[in-house]
Amino acid sequence: MTPDGPPPIEAAAAALRRARRVVVLTGAGVSAESGVPTFRDALTGLWSRYRAEDLATPQAFLANPKLVWDWYAARREKLAQVEPNDGHRALARLEALVDDLLVVTQNVDGLHHRAGSRNVLELHGRLDRTLCFREGTESEPDPSDTGTPPRCPRCGAHLRPGVVWFGEALPAGAFDRACEAAAAADLCLSVGTSGLVEPAASIPRVALGNGVPVIEVNPDATPLTASATWHLRGASGVVLPQLVELAFGSS
Ligand code: OAD
Repeated sequence: MTPDGPPPIEAAAAALRRARRVVVLTGAGVSAESGVPTFRDALTGLWSRYRAEDLATPQAFLANPKLVWDWYAARREKLAQVEPNDGHRALARLEALVDDLLVVTQNVDGLHHRAGSRNVLELHGRLDRTLCFREGTESEPDPSDTGTPPRCPRCGAHLRPGVVWFGEALPAGAFDRACEAAAAADLCLSVGTSGLVEPAASIPRVALGNGVPVIEVNPDATPLTASATWHLRGASGVVLPQLVELAFGSS
């Protein structure tokens, strides 16, 4: 006990136990313990000369499609070697324990799905998909196409990674759906995100604005921390399993 009441994780777990509808916003931090570098970590090795923001734009792709394609190919290769962690698994477990849980993720790594979450809204697309650069629609390269980047088999334009870049719109309706769910939820979690990239960063604020309590899980403070109902300081792979266990018991 602290002088002000129970430790934040116990109060947060009590709120989670009562909640029926839960919305969880996740960012790169939830995959950090799987070995996926967070977005704002310094880029390493080959890519240390670049800023992520200089590679993740349509302009960068137009200027140097091979460079941008290769960067995403390196990220894709890295992803093939990683596994979901206890944080992803705790969220998948939670989905089975509450009436309605939506994971809204900024991550393009597919790890929530691989951990067993089913109701996942991928705001920034998927790294394992490719789009036609001209049409913006999903298009798979012909296996015989060894180009970097390969070409769209339908129209011959370059293919591009199926992720949302800076300056681009989110998938149609995705942000509205996330905001509606946040406003109608009993509880919102914001996990492993720096809260620096809009519009995703405003989803917990939509919850707070509608009187929905927000649990933030992050080892560091973020712009959300001061207004979050509870800030649980720590790694999501540790804190999320503890939180779910405190709320619902083990297994
Ligand atoms: P960031 O890299 O900006 O932030 C990662 C956050 O995770 C930071 O606040 C860290 O403190 C936190 N963190 C690190 N390790 C953690 C752990 N083990 N458990 C919990 N939290 C941890 O990543 P995002 O907020 O996801 O957008 O970045 C948002 C968007 O910016 C990305 O989706 C991407 C990027 O530009 C696009 O590509 C459109």
